[in-house]
This record gives sequence, C-alpha cells and structure tokens, in this order.
Amino acid sequence: MTRWTLGIIGGSGLYALDGLADVRTESVRTPWGAPSAPLTRGALNGVELVFLPRHGAGHAIPPSDIPFRANIAALKQAGCTDILSISACGSLRQGLPPGHFVMVDQYVDRTVGRERSFFGTGCVAHVPLAQPVCARLAALAADAGEAEGLPVTRGGTYLAMEGPQFSTRAESDLYRQWGMDVIGMTNMPEARLAREAELPYASIAMVTDYDCWRDEGESVDVASVLAVMQSNTKGARRLLDRLTARLADLPRAASPDGIETCLDTAIITPPAARDPEV
Ligand code: ADE
Repeated sequence: MTRWTLGIIGGSGLYALDGLADVRTESVRTPWGAPSAPLTRGALNGVELVFLPRHGAGHAIPPSDIPFRANIAALKQAGCTDILSISACGSLRQGLPPGHFVMVDQYVDRTVGRERSFFGTGCVAHVPLAQPVCARLAALAADAGEAEGLPVTRGGTYLAMEGPQFSTRAESDLYRQWGMDVIGMTNMPEARLAREAELPYASIAMVTDYDCWRDEGESVDVASVLAVMQSNTKGARRLLDRLTARLADLPRAASPDGIETCLDTAIITPPAARDPEV
C-alpha cells in the first residue's frame, strides 16, 4: 500500500508535536537555504509526519522573513506526499468566532516582496492555482476535526497580508467587503510554492480574534491572540490524531486534481533554452 508522509507546517503556538513515535531531528539544507528550523520526523498512529515550525522553534522569524522556498523544498526533499498547514488567523465574519477551525479553500494574496516562485529567468513556469488547496486533504482534515467535535467550517477565503503590523480598521472593513473570511500573514506564498513543488497543500486556519472591524471597538493584539491560541493548539493536536488514524488505513492514491504532475504542462521555456543552474 502506498503510504502518506504528511508534512505539517506549524504556525504561531505550534512549535513542536508531542507524542510522536520514533522521533528524529534532521537539519537540512536546500538550494534555497535552510528552512525555518530542523525537521522533526516521527510517526503518529503509524503515519510518518515531518514537522516544521514556520516561525522557528522559538518564534523568532517574522512572517516577512520566513524562508518559504526553503521550507517547501525541505519538505519535498524529506519525501512528504502532502502538506498540512496549521496557523492562527483573524476572523472577518461574525459567524467565525475565536476557536473556530476554517478549512481554507481560496486565497487573496496581498503580501509584497516575498520570494514567491521556484522558477524565474532561465526557466519560466506558470502552474495553475485556480484551486490552490487540495480538496481531498482538506476534506480529510475537516472530517477529522468534526469527528473530534471541533467547530469546523469547510471552505473560506484567506486574505494573506504582509504584516507584521495588524490591519487598520479601513483595511479590515475593505477585506470584509471583498468577501474575505479570515486573515493571516503566513499562508502565502506557501500555498503557491507547494503547488510549484507538486505537493498537495491544505490549510487549517484557527481563529484567534475578530481582527479590528467590529463595532464593539475591540482591536486585535498579541495578548488576545495568545489567549485563544493554547486551546486552538490542543484542538489541532486532537485533529491530527484523528486524521492520522484515518490515513493509516487509507492507501495514498495520486491527487484527483493532478497536483503531482502539474509541472508537466507548466514550464514554457523549452528544455534546450533552460538555464541548467535554475
Ligand atoms: N493572525 C492571528 N490574528 C490575525 C489577524 N487579526 N490579522 C493577521 N494575522 C493574524
């Protein structure tokens, strides 16, 4: 049976995974430099996990400095078949209160100045991103969350902002008018790069706050985020337990969306014209 090797990218509050069997730490380098931290490998319910804290083990890397390309390349090199992102986010909807788990299915990317592609001059590629998330993995994760009794919403648009400051009230209002559901600083360009690496990617956005749009006048700050994060993180750990128990019995077939072969039709530079260094 073909097995799953699940890369887990942990966000704020999730810097390690306890309870893994056969734990190994691997310091790796990639052509794009070192990832945010050494990889932690281990098994949960017999499923191989490769864990990477995106802000580094001590949360010393701000969103704009996360080595996104190295992180995705490291998980690819480590043999991951799929990537599950777990991150904190703000809510832009009254119906998505703190403590909610949103299985993101779309993105609007307002990050600026981040390296967002493995390709460029010398080898040009355009991968499809209309469906930026692997629907199969997202559904499996949502099933697991629901089975654990967690408040899960299937589908939601994540506004990726640059930060590190939180939004202004006008920005928060604007994103709501745009129809955005949650807001965070880290899922982009991660999701883009996972697609270029032909790795199915899904994202659990765990709501910590209502950002700053509500008439109640509250505004997000680190203290309010931290207050909810701990219980969210415990929920995420339970979700992972349930998810891996399911994946242990589920042979891993190729993604129904062709994600693992998306480069076959994406590279526009003919082989003879490609720069071998790229
Ligand atoms: N992460 C957690 N809460 C957030 C918010 N309101 N805006 C951006 N990123 C966040």
